[in-house]
Amino acid sequence: MRVAILHGPNLRLLGIREPEVYGSGTLADINEDLRQLAVELGVDVEVFQSNHEGELVDFIEEAAGRVRGFLVNAGGLTHTSVALRDALIGVGLPFVEVHLSNVAAREPFRHHSYLSAVSEGVVFGFGARSYLLGLRGLVGRLSDG
Ligand code: DQA
Repeated sequence: MRVAILHGPNLRLLGIREPEVYGSGTLADINEDLRQLAVELGVDVEVFQSNHEGELVDFIEEAAGRVRGFLVNAGGLTHTSVALRDALIGVGLPFVEVHLSNVAAREPFRHHSYLSAVSEGVVFGFGARSYLLGLRGLVGRLSDG
């Protein structure tokens, strides 16, 4: 079983970007932890980061032929992107939405997600652990059949 992990805009700045909000770990740290967990769970992962909405849409369309689902931190596009939502619905594969920060406790514009209602589930507020919990949730859901 193979799943894809998507990181949206500005997430490659993790480690230097607002550490009081996002922590001091880097995106490479997160990806390494995810790869280790994937081995434990017996799944293959591929990772993609882009700051560009269209590139994320292209990746979703291309990867859909080889993966069973997606783990998605869409960053700021979470709150704005109909295109990303349509792409994820369009390929018809399950996905889990994750965020490092507790978006519900932040600015009102972060309270709405275009993705949540069409996701399998959402994990936020646990820092890098949100990704790990999200991967467990996604793989668990896929294993349920
Ligand atoms: C984020 C939350 C978003 O509101 C923000 O735009 C991000 C990161 C998070 O992981 O907490 O870029 O997705």
